[in-house]
Amino acid sequence: MQVLHSVNELRAAVARLPRPLGLVPTMGALHAGHMALMTASTADNRSTVASIYVNPSQFGPREDLSRYPRTLEADLAKLEAAAADLVFAPETPEMYPPGFVSWVSVEGPPAERLEAERRPGHFRGVATIVAKLLLQVGPDVAYFGQKDAQQLAVVRRVVTDLNIPVRIVGVPTVREPDGLALSSRNVYLSPAERRAATVLSRALRTAQARYAAGERDPEAILQSMAAEFRAEPLADLDYADLADPDTFQPAVQLDDRTLALVACRIGATRLIDNTALGGTHS
Ligand code: PAF
Repeated sequence: MQVLHSVNELRAAVARLPRPLGLVPTMGALHAGHMALMTASTADNRSTVASIYVNPSQFGPREDLSRYPRTLEADLAKLEAAAADLVFAPETPEMYPPGFVSWVSVEGPPAERLEAERRPGHFRGVATIVAKLLLQVGPDVAYFGQKDAQQLAVVRRVVTDLNIPVRIVGVPTVREPDGLALSSRNVYLSPAERRAATVLSRALRTAQARYAAGERDPEAILQSMAAEFRAEPLADLDYADLADPDTFQPAVQLDDRTLALVACRIGATRLIDNTALGGTHS
């Protein structure tokens, strides 16, 4: 497994890799959710490139950029074990050269509500870095977690709008046995907060159960989701929402593809989760 830091070295090495080629973009601090992206890519492709880059432009001024977990040696060992052919681990001057002013900014649905409102500039940072990685690596397929469902929809929008020749695959969320979705931010939780964090998946299961029982009134399902959070004193609900999985506009007619989404703060940590009401993402 090669570890490269510059775009020129990356391009030369990628040119020698057998196709089809999969890309797994990450910010490091790898967990089993990332490993599921690697498994999907190595199953579908003859070569896999993983990237590790903590992208400053997708963090807001009051967010966790400086304390975001950085575990490069352990990450490289995991990627080696997962049969990555190449790891691209650039430094910031390589990704944002001096004088950088060219952004990919997604100015409508699916980047209007929810995370877009709470984290101004976040999707501009994500869209820009993902477009750059896709241009630098030129993969046939790129893999993203369904855990960040709105990010996945934004990436699909960018690829369509900019005619980037790549297939985007969403990989199902990996969960702890008690339902908590794996996230690099889970390491911030104290033991009590970690116990409280099961409220997110509990609220999503409640939404699914009400839908499965025939409830089709969005407001009724949203009320049930909010009630789960009221019962958990350590969790401060940011939003509970039902949205179209492509546009992230509020769902009016519920169907199996409709996403139930939640975001909350537990202590200083902000967590998000989602599920399709019908159980599996489309
Ligand atoms: O999901 C992530 O880890 C990041 O947002 C991504 C897609 C690697 C872009 O920095």
